[in-house]
Amino acid sequence: MKEIRISQVGCGIVGHGFLEVVRRKRDMLRDLGLDLKIVSVTDHTGTIYEKNGVDPKKVLGVKTLAEGVANSDMKGLEAIEEIESDLVVEVTPTNIDHGQPGLGHMEMALTQGKNVVTSNKGPLVVAFNRLKDLAGENGARLKYEATVGGTMPLISLVERNLVGNNILGIKGIFNGTCNYILTRMMEEGYPYGYALMEAQELGIAEADPAYDVEGIDTAAKMTILANSVFGMNVKYDDIDVTGITDITTESLALARDRGYLIKLIGEVPALTVKPMLVPRRSPLAVGGTLNAASIETDLSGTITVTGLGAGSIETASAILSDIVNIYTTRNIDDRS
Ligand SMILES: NC(=O)c1ccc[n+]([C@@H]2O[C@H](COP(=O)([O-])OP(=O)(O)OC[C@H]3O[C@@H](n4cnc5c(N)ncnc54)[C@H](OP(=O)(O)O)[C@@H]3O)[C@@H](O)[C@H]2O)c1
Repeated sequence: MKEIRISQVGCGIVGHGFLEVVRRKRDMLRDLGLDLKIVSVTDHTGTIYEKNGVDPKKVLGVKTLAEGVANSDMKGLEAIEEIESDLVVEVTPTNIDHGQPGLGHMEMALTQGKNVVTSNKGPLVVAFNRLKDLAGENGARLKYEATVGGTMPLISLVERNLVGNNILGIKGIFNGTCNYILTRMMEEGYPYGYALMEAQELGIAEADPAYDVEGIDTAAKMTILANSVFGMNVKYDDIDVTGITDITTESLALARDRGYLIKLIGEVPALTVKPMLVPRRSPLAVGGTLNAASIETDLSGTITVTGLGAGSIETASAILSDIVNIYTTRNIDDRS
């Protein structure tokens, strides 16, 4: 049995999901020969550290570790540096301007030769190639499936199953909030503002929805895909971004009458994010909060995957599969 000691930094929606999936899947993981031991969990208020593994039940359901759970005031950087661990799960909030606090956490972990698995886009948008180099120099692995399509397998599909193919392009729907709003506008004839309000009431859109509806989230994902899958050296500002705020009910109806939907489409290596016409019979014509991505290859034709791009358990599932991949497969995805 391989023991994997994990320091988790961030304990919000995804952090709770990760604790829950590790708890639920303990037997399945043992069948794979893996004993995942979460030795520490840190949020911005402090850390709970248990050398023999934190009982997820102690943490699940609490809003912050300050609610009588933390047994140390260690911050994320200290927890990563001082607690013996093999892998850091980094699930703090995304900031695509400077990448912090996640960027510092990842640099600290990788410098120490600790593997990093994350759903946090910010550090990868700001410094993907630097982080990859740091991982390589220190014999560590950096895995980030959850940053791009949530639970939808995309990076691992390209790196593992499609190995041998040249990837010619990836295009798709990478933001569930935008897709939900556009779907409701088309199906119900709602104006943009009303569909947005409905999404906010359902918790699908944030109170400040700019990050989603202006295409920023999708552009961050295109930056990560460009650098990781296409080996480019792209910054966020290299992406040409138009969001969905100017789409009208009339334009959606007009498109529908001609057999099309309007979707917010991100494309690499084109480096664009913009509303585009998608034929109703296209595999990208998915509704609601679903994401979908078509991968164009030289040998396998075009392959399309679809799935939920966000959610606590769903995102945690992608993190778990990255961890299992690190310890059960050969290092083909980190070739350079
Ligand atoms: N939610 C999703 O469905 C989803 C899907 C894909 C990717 N993501 C990404 O995954 C990451 C986590 O998302 P989330 O929804 O779980 O966010 P969240 O609910 O806001 O949780 C963030 C957690 O990070 C903690 N934190 C903040 N600053 C910290 C610091 N300096 N050191 C240590 N911990 C710190 C917060 O602690 P406090 O509560 O104490 O502030 C909180 O526990 C984000 O980068 C997000 O973009 C989320």
